[in-house]
Amino acid sequence: MIRYSYQATLATAQKVTWRIEDIIGGDKRLDFSKPFMPESLARVEPLDFLRADEKRALNQIRGAAYLGIFGLVEEFILPFVLDHARPQLQGDDYRVRALLQFASEEAKHIHLFKRFREEFEQGFGHDCAVIGPPEAIAQAVLAHDPLAVALTILHIEWMTQRHYLDSVKDDQSLDTQFKSLLKHHWMEEAQHAKLDTLMVQAISEACSPTEREQAIDGYLELGGMIDAGLMQQVKFDLESLKRGTGRTLTAEETDRYFAVQQQATRWTFIGSGMSHKNFLGIAELLKPGSAMRLEGIVPMFS
Ligand SMILES: [Fe+2]
Ligand SMILES: [Fe+2]
Repeated sequence: MIRYSYQATLATAQKVTWRIEDIIGGDKRLDFSKPFMPESLARVEPLDFLRADEKRALNQIRGAAYLGIFGLVEEFILPFVLDHARPQLQGDDYRVRALLQFASEEAKHIHLFKRFREEFEQGFGHDCAVIGPPEAIAQAVLAHDPLAVALTILHIEWMTQRHYLDSVKDDQSLDTQFKSLLKHHWMEEAQHAKLDTLMVQAISEACSPTEREQAIDGYLELGGMIDAGLMQQVKFDLESLKRGTGRTLTAEETDRYFAVQQQATRWTFIGSGMSHKNFLGIAELLKPGSAMRLEGIVPMFS
């Protein structure tokens, strides 16, 4: 089923290592004259009632929310990975070290995204709310069956790969500092996608056939919970736009904002992960027919 190994993944991870202070702070500053997010994820251009500077502000608000939400999900990934590593600390040394490296990188990313938020709010000049609090979200997510949580994490890891490779890497219009944060995050997430595949495999092997069958339903339930949070984030982003630009929207413009931004946010966090071929491949292995089922759901999140 799996072509990844703990040993090879650990070796790659050890080559990648960077420090937070190498990539943020000092002369490494955000340039607010540039967009932060690729248009395929931000989708500010269809909002043609906004001026260019207002579209750019919304793009940057979406960028701040993007990293804020990553920070949130990493708050449940970190304990999940630690819990997965702990029962077998006497086992395969490469496994233990690869999983602890994974956890340590997520702790670093949580820290990085907090540092980013301080710089963002200073530069943007206004508070931009992000859904939370992280502990409550982590508690609600971790209350689900481990296989459903592992699948949700796998979705997030492959989604991150896809965002960077398909939309960020070759976009020369983006702020170089924001792009550097995405790049460094992606470099470590590449190993997480592999390790999480191994986690899904190990957890599914310990599950009964019924538990395995129910995992996709559990994953979709978690998706519904995450979607509700995302829809709240779209409201927060509108408040941030109004505060940041002094702009008011008519009822018609508000409707248009929600129609475009709800789908943009859904594609960013749900559709783009759910439709990743590596994610679908694993879902299909757990329960035949799942890939087609999920592909049928993706258009609602596109
Ligand atoms: Fe991360
Ligand atoms: Fe990760």
